[in-house]
Amino acid sequence: MIQIDRNRVRTIIDREQQLFSKTHLKSKRMFEHARKSLIGGVPMNWMIEWPGSFPIFAKGGYGSRIIDVDGHTYVDFCLGDTGAMFGHSPKATVEAAVRQMRKGITMMLPTEDSVWVGEELTRRFGLPYWQVAMTATDANRFSLRMAREATGRRKILVFNGCYHGTVDETLVRLVDGQVVPREGAMPPPIEPELTTRIVEFNDLNSLEKALESHDVAAVLMEPVMTNCGIILPEEGYLEGVREITRATGTVWIIDETHTWCAGPGGYTAAHRLKPDMITVGKPIAGGIPAGAFGASQEIFDKTMRNMLAETTGVNGLGGTLTGNALALAAMRVTLQKVIIKKAYDRMIPLAERFNESIERVIQQTGVPWHSVRLGTRVEYRFGPKPPRNGAEAIAAKDPLLNKYVHLYDLNRGILLTPFHNMALMSPHSTRKDVNLHTAIFRDSIEQIIA
Ligand SMILES: Cc1ncc(COP(=O)(O)O)c(C=O)c1O
Repeated sequence: MIQIDRNRVRTIIDREQQLFSKTHLKSKRMFEHARKSLIGGVPMNWMIEWPGSFPIFAKGGYGSRIIDVDGHTYVDFCLGDTGAMFGHSPKATVEAAVRQMRKGITMMLPTEDSVWVGEELTRRFGLPYWQVAMTATDANRFSLRMAREATGRRKILVFNGCYHGTVDETLVRLVDGQVVPREGAMPPPIEPELTTRIVEFNDLNSLEKALESHDVAAVLMEPVMTNCGIILPEEGYLEGVREITRATGTVWIIDETHTWCAGPGGYTAAHRLKPDMITVGKPIAGGIPAGAFGASQEIFDKTMRNMLAETTGVNGLGGTLTGNALALAAMRVTLQKVIIKKAYDRMIPLAERFNESIERVIQQTGVPWHSVRLGTRVEYRFGPKPPRNGAEAIAAKDPLLNKYVHLYDLNRGILLTPFHNMALMSPHSTRKDVNLHTAIFRDSIEQIIA
């Protein structure tokens, strides 16, 4: 069996770090300057998760390219971790946003765009009622609130290895059968065992057991896990989730934030799922902050109908800027002209090519790795077979190799999503971009096999 020479990996990482520092002098200076005023030297902490010893500072993002302040151009397969999945600054979105900005950014009044957006979300995802949020995190938080209102229950259930944004009660892990705060997260406001049940993905028995006491308001899940690598549902699993949640009166919320990569109506439409609620965000307004959550007639009847009758201003489902005119104008045009079938028809074959190329290199070099694809998203892992659940995915993590491949790519003009080896195809990505990645991937492996 082929062995990875880990000493060699460490030596190359050191060499690549030096190369990175030498070739990114302006970014380095900006980072040192920024550290005096910004926590961690960045406006948002994920931005230091990139593999260099400091982040590259971006000058701009165009289509599938990013240019940094040192003048390097990158083929961007991270695409803002899905926020820019359809390319940076889509032309139609930018034009509509600029038009709207001249006419009022936020007025605390609905605009005509919102009517179109509501109908379009219903058409795509199948749920009749929608409300807008600022982010996918917000959409998840608000959908959980609605599920609690609808059921009169307090607890929620999520899956080990999940990420649904910074929603307190979802920042958890399953360790030795117990729900515990997620590693690295700041302490939760309420102990997780009071708010959350957690089970492994692809295990209907555990789910059934966790819901049998009928005290869980909602199951919040991605239909395919994407945040500890791609984990596909086994045959019949999601149908089982639907049956169990229905039988126990638990609201089934599908988070389509990442799985929207499966098609224009997300994984839900592609696989004819019938959730009670759906949440979306990230690319929905071409990168302008916006999200949305949808609800079934039944959830609407049990929640909003009463709430609207009482006309309460503070129901916990939004903020001053939520549903602003700019976000709605951007959502409308992005749904109309950007997140469309034609774009997927271009992106998915590229993702297939990316996946097949990686599989070929893995096979030819003999490294015990594998690659998985979901729609426009591809991810390779440092283990021989795809994990079935979060525990297996977490156990298979290899931070050293992770750092190695990301840094190797970065120094050669490729950006992969920092948290895992994930690549997204945009409509602007090309076969040449994919081939470039394949060549670098092969080279990076040949450097370290013993
Ligand atoms: C599945 C999923 N849901 C929700 C979110 C939260 O998105 P945002 O950070 O844009 O609020 C994320 C973020 O990565 C996510 O992966």
